[in-house]
Amino acid sequence: MSKPEIILAIETSCDETAMALVNVQRKVKGVKYKTFEFEILADVVASQIETHRPYGGVVPSLAKREHLQNLPIVYRKILEKFDPPVGGRKFEIDRIAVTIGPGLEPCLWTGLNFAKNLAKKLKIPLIGVSHLEGHMFSNWLPSIPKIRNSKSAIAFAAIALLVSGGHTILALMQSLTKWKVLGETRDDAVGEAFDKVAKMLKLPYPGGPEVEELAQSVKREEQGKINFPQPMIYDKSYDFSFSGLKTSVLYYLRDNPNTPKEDICYSFQKAAVDVLVHKTMKAAKEFKAKSIMLCGGVASNKTLQKKLRAGSRELKAGFFVPNKKFNTDNAVMIAAAAHLGKKYSTKKALPNLSL
Ligand code: KG4
Ligand code: ZN
Repeated sequence: MSKPEIILAIETSCDETAMALVNVQRKVKGVKYKTFEFEILADVVASQIETHRPYGGVVPSLAKREHLQNLPIVYRKILEKFDPPVGGRKFEIDRIAVTIGPGLEPCLWTGLNFAKNLAKKLKIPLIGVSHLEGHMFSNWLPSIPKIRNSKSAIAFAAIALLVSGGHTILALMQSLTKWKVLGETRDDAVGEAFDKVAKMLKLPYPGGPEVEELAQSVKREEQGKINFPQPMIYDKSYDFSFSGLKTSVLYYLRDNPNTPKEDICYSFQKAAVDVLVHKTMKAAKEFKAKSIMLCGGVASNKTLQKKLRAGSRELKAGFFVPNKKFNTDNAVMIAAAAHLGKKYSTKKALPNLSL
């Protein structure tokens, strides 16, 4: 068993200022699986949703200003949970991990500069972490915070579908350190499409949960009245495209302005989810996946979860989705990626970093 390490993780890539203090322990169990224990000592997220809501999307200059304001406050909250020591145990931070990309460059820099100053002050090492790896490794986090947990059940090969406001990526994971991107979106991310459709329907930001709620309210006999295109569903590649679907919704609303919002939400969600599920299952079959993992903000979507769970069962593969609170941006997943994933230099922010 290796020495446990305490990581302070910092995440500022988009519109959440997040910090977490995580006690990580890696256990080597047999040859086949390695298991991990992530004990979450503190987890703070300052959300900027209210700031960006009037604009229907994230405004980078406002996000940067909010991060600068929130970082010292969030750090103080972390310290309050950590000092005086929890349950008489004394903790020492072993290293700091900070998201270096991808994300909004001015936002990434706020976290990076804060982390650099703190590492210097505390005289501890600092490493850079990929936000996308954070989402990928969120499936290894405990489902009940503060309770030690080890998930050894994710067997490889695994197919991971990362769906968020900024990304739509299908990846093949052959081990914890070896993966390959099979496909990604050629235009809008699926979460972005949910947000844009919500905006067209004058629903509040972020639109994903709102669209899902209205879609779920449509009775069975009322479903399927509108058929939106399912972009690239029969395309040979594992790439996605959601901008055409979004435009179809726009034109449909222009031509049929009195359509109930629920019907639009149902049919849009169906088109988007069916493409995601079709390509994920196709990849799972091709690569004989033993596990299928979902992550990112859109992973909270119940219809998407249900369809992927059913597909996994058919293939006798395990299905994994993180606890809801780890789907949206947070720093606990950054600590997990700091321990399990690639270590990046913190010389500069990498706004376009890919998986
Ligand atoms: O991962 P995340 O917090 O931020 C990014 O890194 O982008 O994802 C946020 C995205 C938003 O687009 C939001 O509308 C979407 O996730 N989302 C959902 C649901 N909950 C959040 N989309 C569909 N259904 C949901 N239930
Ligand atoms: Zn994210």
